[in-house]
Amino acid sequence: MSQRKVAVYRKEHFNAAHRLHNPQLSDAENARLFGKCNNPSYHGHNYELIVKVTGEVDEKTGYVIDTKILSDLVKVHVLEVFDHRNLNLDTDYFKNLNPTAENIVMVIYDILRKQIDSRYDLKLMLYETERNFVEFPVG
Ligand code: NI
Repeated sequence: MSQRKVAVYRKEHFNAAHRLHNPQLSDAENARLFGKCNNPSYHGHNYELIVKVTGEVDEKTGYVIDTKILSDLVKVHVLEVFDHRNLNLDTDYFKNLNPTAENIVMVIYDILRKQIDSRYDLKLMLYETERNFVEFPVG
């Protein structure tokens, strides 16, 4: 077997509040575009984050990546930043960026990409609800 790449998945969870709002648009347009998610008093989601790391299996350990190390990276750099926070108010990432699932997953990707060795491929799935989820990068 020449191809020894395996994908390793780690599932994590965080709760966070947000409000979808584009200050460049009128209140009516914001209400039309974002519906309940435009509620001025914010609302919460139970986000599920699936981190997929793909790489060669190490001959010595039999691992692609130690899932304890992966879990700790996500915990320190993502969960401790976003869990039980208001994404708009309590983090710097969404001061000027609408915290849609699309934007959140790209922010988390940029955070984790810096922490995970470039020999690994990284892909994320972010579930905002059981039925609504996004993937980044695509392909
Ligand atoms: Ni929402």
